[in-house]
Amino acid sequence: MCGIVGYAGDKNVESVLIVGLIGLEYRGYDSAGIAVLDRGEIQVRKQKGKIKDLENYLKEHPIRGNVGIGHTRWATHGEPNQINAHPHTDSKSTVAVVHNGIIENYSELRQELKQKGFVFHSMTDTEVLPNLLAESRKRGLSNKDAFLELFNRVHGKWAIAVVFDNEPDRVYFAQDGAPLLLGRGKEEYYLASDISPLTRNCREVYYINSKEWGYFAKTECKIFGFDGSEKEFEFKTQDIKFEDVDKGGYPHYMIKEIHEQPGIFRRIIQSRISEAGEIEFPESTISREMMSKVNRIIIQAAGTSYYAGMLGKHYLENFAKIQTDTETSSEFRYRNPVVEGDTLIVGISQSGETADTLASLLEAKAKFIKVLSLVNNVNSTIARESDSFIRTDAGPEIGVASTKAFTAQVINLLLFSLYVARLKWIVSDDELKTLIEEIRLLPGKMERILAQAHILENWAADFTKTKDFVFLGRTYNHPVALEGALKLKEVSYIHASGYAGGEFKHGPIALITNEVPVVCIATKSEIYSKMLSNIQEIKARNGIMISIVTEGDKEAKELSDYCFEVPECPEILSPILNVLPLQLLAYYSAVARGCPPDQPRNLAKSVTVE
Ligand code: M6R
Repeated sequence: MCGIVGYAGDKNVESVLIVGLIGLEYRGYDSAGIAVLDRGEIQVRKQKGKIKDLENYLKEHPIRGNVGIGHTRWATHGEPNQINAHPHTDSKSTVAVVHNGIIENYSELRQELKQKGFVFHSMTDTEVLPNLLAESRKRGLSNKDAFLELFNRVHGKWAIAVVFDNEPDRVYFAQDGAPLLLGRGKEEYYLASDISPLTRNCREVYYINSKEWGYFAKTECKIFGFDGSEKEFEFKTQDIKFEDVDKGGYPHYMIKEIHEQPGIFRRIIQSRISEAGEIEFPESTISREMMSKVNRIIIQAAGTSYYAGMLGKHYLENFAKIQTDTETSSEFRYRNPVVEGDTLIVGISQSGETADTLASLLEAKAKFIKVLSLVNNVNSTIARESDSFIRTDAGPEIGVASTKAFTAQVINLLLFSLYVARLKWIVSDDELKTLIEEIRLLPGKMERILAQAHILENWAADFTKTKDFVFLGRTYNHPVALEGALKLKEVSYIHASGYAGGEFKHGPIALITNEVPVVCIATKSEIYSKMLSNIQEIKARNGIMISIVTEGDKEAKELSDYCFEVPECPEILSPILNVLPLQLLAYYSAVARGCPPDQPRNLAKSVTVE
């Protein structure tokens, strides 16, 4: 989704902003632009397309200066084109604004401003902002007062960065529900809507809170509340390094992140399981007393995080013996569910910024229901708005397609379920010990699978013209089938659907022809024989059979056109291993079809609009 950057210092702002925007590219966007204070004049350059297009345009139309703002736009109001791209200015170019989020009452504001003679050029909601500021200034208000007035006039969830022509050293900023952070360098300040653009130059950052605004120049930075009062604030050292958000020699973030998974698991296992075999969640304030009262859990999430949540239901019911429902946040929040006092809402979000998930959690909080979140970005809005959070600890995920965050969410959900079971004294020492031994073996098994990535690369080459794919799995591997289908469609644009194996004969089996590959997740489990039946039924209808099986399984292999073997493990851990070949299949299919895996069309990394 949209991204914001800003800078004030001694450097050439044009290149600082471009580098910052490149750092935000992974979020997904369709146009980009910058506004620079050039000798008291606001100069704007913007282009539809990629940052490269903007860079080329800047070569022909350069701007000079040391203070400015920039933006990547993901179209919501109005198509992606140069006019709708940010920054937007008032007609006289006295103020320029970049904006993330949505101004819900923009249509009324636009009418009001038009009646006062203001002229609009774009289809965006953003364009009301520079005009509102210009209108306040026309009435004699200072920039600061115009800013304060703006906050009472606009509704929605948003973040903005602004430059005024009469304050050539300053960048103004504000946020009400959309993330924004400041970075401090040596005699320079940076602004960005996420940490990635700041990792190269700033060790110290400040996460701007909702309903805070301020301004910075080369050597000063002030923060205020929406009531106008100045706030004390502190920059903190951040631990994300530039290497964490770099491709590290891989051609794409997606494949780098797929290969990071064994290392992430080693780290999670080390930090969550003590040498004595006890599971620890030190960052959460969830107590034994509180958990013993919880009689229902509702997991809220979207997309891949939702599929991890489906596994969370299995784990929580199995080990913690708490009735658990998993629902997509976008549906849950609009259906007036029965939620009582002893319910715990668990929000799962990689980014911690997903608008639907955030909205459901806030609604639950408003009903005095306790909210726990599982987030990869611990400085995110969801983490901050929850009563307590637990860390996913997958490290920054840049590829739009979630891979390492999924497996890290799954292992954390399993460990959390065991932790709660332990708090309630309902898991025996022996059961826990055996499981932990198996969990400790996972990183090595993951490495063995990833070492065979070339097999999936070869398969992908056979399916470059394929139009439809089907994925089947049962119980623990039903969410994996859904995730495999989501991954394939989002990065390769091949239509793919995932089903529970048992549901397949109730309709979707009609899809099977000799042109449709069906991926059956048929590793050894209690329902292995049922998956074999699925395989037989598909073979009988000439479907192309791709199976994921346990090493040494000859039966399923003989029935398959393509077969990938994964190391043996307990059924409850099998999703973690089985999803890896599906992630690789999706990645290599995208590459083979010439699709950009890190920035699939129409998609954004964090979906901050509903
Ligand atoms: O940041 P979140 O985990 O809340 O994001 C939820 C979904 O938008 C996300 O998982 C999306 O489905 C991914 N593109 C899947 O790869």
